[in-house]
Amino acid sequence: MKIYVPLDSAAVALGADDVAAAITSYAAKAGISVEIVRNGSRGMVWLEPLVEIEDAQGRRAFGPLSPADVPALLEGTLKSLGRVEDIAFFARQTRLTFARCGLIDPLDLTSYAAHGGLGGLKRALSMTAQQTVEEVTASGLRGRGGAGFPTGLKWETVRSAQASQKYIVCNADEGDSGTFADRMLMEGDPFSLIEGMVIAGLAVGATRGYVYLRSEYPVAIRVMRAAVDIARENALLGEDILGTGTAFDVDIRVGAGAYVCGEETALLNSLEGKRGTVRAKPPLPALHGFMGQPTVVNNVISLATIPVIFEHGAAHYAAFGIGRSKGTVTLQLAGNVKYGGLFEAGFGMTLGDVVTDIGGGTATGKPVKAVQVGGPLGAFMRPDKFETPIGYEEFDNAGGLIGHAGLTVFDDSADMGALAQFAMEFCAIESCGKCTPCRIGSTRGVETIARIRNGDHAAIPLLEDLCDTMRDGSLCALGGFTPYPVLSALNGWPQDFGVTTAEVTQ
Ligand SMILES: Cc1cc2nc3c(=O)[nH]c(=O)nc-3n(C[C@H](O)[C@H](O)[C@H](O)COP(=O)(O)O)c2cc1C
Ligand code: SF4
Repeated sequence: MKIYVPLDSAAVALGADDVAAAITSYAAKAGISVEIVRNGSRGMVWLEPLVEIEDAQGRRAFGPLSPADVPALLEGTLKSLGRVEDIAFFARQTRLTFARCGLIDPLDLTSYAAHGGLGGLKRALSMTAQQTVEEVTASGLRGRGGAGFPTGLKWETVRSAQASQKYIVCNADEGDSGTFADRMLMEGDPFSLIEGMVIAGLAVGATRGYVYLRSEYPVAIRVMRAAVDIARENALLGEDILGTGTAFDVDIRVGAGAYVCGEETALLNSLEGKRGTVRAKPPLPALHGFMGQPTVVNNVISLATIPVIFEHGAAHYAAFGIGRSKGTVTLQLAGNVKYGGLFEAGFGMTLGDVVTDIGGGTATGKPVKAVQVGGPLGAFMRPDKFETPIGYEEFDNAGGLIGHAGLTVFDDSADMGALAQFAMEFCAIESCGKCTPCRIGSTRGVETIARIRNGDHAAIPLLEDLCDTMRDGSLCALGGFTPYPVLSALNGWPQDFGVTTAEVTQ
C-alpha cells in the first residue's frame, strides 16, 4: 500500500517525521509492504500530521496521527476521516494554484505532468511573447505578495524594455506573520513555481531567474533545490526548454532573515550581495532591477498561479472573484483559530464567513475580538467589519488591506494596546534605517504608545500626528503601513489604551 506522510514543515513540527519512522519500523516488523510518499500538506493544519493510505479501497485520510496510532493504521482498525476531498474545509475550496499540493509527490515530475502540470507551459510555448503577456493581463491576476499590482502590466513593462539581459526574481521571503502559503506551495508543488517562472521568462525575454528564499524555510530550500535539479535533467530548465531551443534557468538564493528584504528593492540589493536597504523608486525594478537590468519581481503565489492560467485559459481564471479582484485568493488562517490552515477560494467571501464559518471561530472557544489581515502591517478588523468581502478595493474601503492574505485571529483576552505597541516595535526593529519617518518615528512611536498606555492622554494627538508623518513620508510600506495596525487598534479598542472614544480624534 502507498502511504502519504507530509514533509511539510507544519506537519513535521507536529510530528510527521516520527509518524513516518513509526510506519517504516512497524511495517518491517509486521511484514507489511508499504511505500511511503512524503507529500506536501493538504492545508488543514489542525489535522496534521494528516496521513493518507492509498490501496484497493481508494485514498483515505487519517489524522491528526501520532506514532502510537501506527499499529491500528497499518492493521486497518483506525477510524478514517474519509477522502480529503470530502472534508468540509477542503470541499468548499476552489483549488487552482494549490490543485496538486498534497496530492502528488512534490518531486515526481511524471506525476506533476499527469495532474495537469506543463500543460500551461506547452501552451505558452506556442504563443508569442506579446500574446503571453496579454493572456496574463486578461486573467486579471494581481500580485499576491501584498501590493496587488496587476501582473500583466508589470510583465509588459519588462517585455517592452530594451536590454541584453532581463531577469525573473521570485520573492519567496514570506516574512508576514501568520502567512505560510509560499512555503506550503514550494514544499508541496515546487514544479508549478518553476513552470510559472519559465513562462514569465518566455513572456518578457528573460533567460535567468532567481528564487530569493528565506533561510528559516529549510524544507522549502531542500525541496526547491531538488526540484530545480530534476527540472534541469528533464529540460524544463536549461538551454533547450522542452526541445524548443529556448533558454531559461533558475538559481535558489537564501536570504539571511530581515523582514525588509521581502520589499522588492531591498531584496534586489540583498540578491546582489549588498546590505538589504530599500532603493528609492523610480527607477522601477521592472526597468532597473537586478544588476540594473529589467526585472520581474513576483511573489511565489503570483508565479505559481501562472501555469493554471495558461492551462485553463485567462477567461476561466478571471471568472472567479469579484470586481477587480479576479481569480482565487490563498487565505491563510492562523492565530487563535479553531481550524487553521490554507483555504483557496474565489475572492468575494466575507471576512466573517472565513473566520467564523471556515475557521470555526477561536480555538479557545471565546468570542473573536480582532482579526489582523495582511501580516504585521495590516489593520486589526473588528467583528463589525465581518461583512467586508475579501477583495482588494473592498478591504481598502473598510480601512484594511489584504496583503499576502494572512489572517491572524485574536479572542477577547487580547490586549489591543499591547498589540499596537508590538506593531510599532516590530517596525523599529525591522526598519532598514533609510528614511527618517520610519527609522526615528517608529522608536518615538513605541515610546508614545507606552505613554498613552501609562495614562498620559495628551500623547494621543502626538501618536496620530506621528502616524500621519510615517504614512505620508516613509519611503516604503514598512514605515508607511505600520499606522494601519496602530491606529486601527487605537480607534477600534480605545478602552485597551485606557482612553475613551471621544479622546481619539481620527
Ligand atoms: C516591508 C515589506 C516586506 C515585503 N515582504 C514581502 C514578502 O515577503 N514577499 C512578497 O512576495 N512580497 C513582499 N513585499 C512586497 C514586495 O515589495 C513586492 O510588492 C512583491 O514582491 C511583488 O510581487 P507581486 O506583484 O507578485 O506581489 C513586501 C513589501 C514590503 C514593503
Ligand atoms: S520605511 Fe523604513 S524600511 Fe522602508 S525605506 Fe524607510 S526606513 Fe527603510
